[in-house]
Amino acid sequence: MTAELRAIARSIVESDKGILAADESTGTITKRFDAIAVESTEENRRSYRNLLFTTAGMEEFIGGVILFDETIRQRSDDGTAFPELLAAMGVVPGIKVDTGAHPLAGAPGETITEGLDGLRKRLADYYQQGARFAKWRATLSVGERLPSRYCVRVNAQALARYASLCQETGIVPIVEPEVLMDTDHSIDACYDATARTLQALFAELAVQRVDLEGILLKPNMVIPGKGNADQASPERIARATLDCFRRYVPAVVPGIVFLSGGQAEVEATVNLDAINGLDGRVWPLSFSYGRALQASTLQAWQGLEENVEAAQAVFLHRARCNAAAVGGRYDAGLEALGSA
Ligand code: 13P
Repeated sequence: MTAELRAIARSIVESDKGILAADESTGTITKRFDAIAVESTEENRRSYRNLLFTTAGMEEFIGGVILFDETIRQRSDDGTAFPELLAAMGVVPGIKVDTGAHPLAGAPGETITEGLDGLRKRLADYYQQGARFAKWRATLSVGERLPSRYCVRVNAQALARYASLCQETGIVPIVEPEVLMDTDHSIDACYDATARTLQALFAELAVQRVDLEGILLKPNMVIPGKGNADQASPERIARATLDCFRRYVPAVVPGIVFLSGGQAEVEATVNLDAINGLDGRVWPLSFSYGRALQASTLQAWQGLEENVEAAQAVFLHRARCNAAAVGGRYDAGLEALGSA
């Protein structure tokens, strides 16, 4: 089991590949569809995911796709179950298993991620359906005295319980502690919150006997809040990020896959490229982007069949740019090729 988990984790991030996070819950994908005036019906959601997953050539840049519960049960236009379709392309199917962030009792403004009840059984079912990795996202807000030690601790404990159950089932857990960037904090405040979160997380993973060689870590970059006047350069973000992870993430972790967290598409690519331009990297530093891989694809699609090919070209382009960033080979010239 251990060797299998390690092999899966490594295969997802080999050859500069990253992850497509296509696990938007029905509520979240509905928001994305609202922005392009597409009705969020089950068929439209299937059809959009079909567009993404049948993009020819995406397997060169995408090693894993995270699915939502509805999506893992759906089929492509030709009737193939999505997990089967992805696996046949050499792309590892994954599944979001948390049931969302909910208010944390006694901690105004903070959340605890739920979904542990019945998780062992759900994981076994998802394994049967082809899932070989999973995702659980904890969210931490930065602010006056936030995140609290209480919030950091209980989310670390829940992440570790989830990770341990995944490994028991033969599923690689993506462990995702996300320090949110939607307030106005400084890059130093993000560094501090990220450092405290990672410290607590790895302590708890050790207590709960999680095999660190059979996980992937999905963190935020160390980056200022959106509303902060001092928006740091990619070089500063890259240095702060690598410094923080070198201090708090064990070297045996097989890969770090960043979330985009509200960064614009090109910004997320440029920052990833800057991180991979630095010396002192210990693990593959890749991407597990949702919005930063899909925003322009959704715009190009607009819910119309005649736009599918163009939208797939846009998606392939973003995937290619991000894989280039993992290799530290991205430059702005690549963007021009995408719009050609
Ligand atoms: P974003 O890249 O849009 O932040 O989404 C990644 C993700 O899966 C968050 O859990």
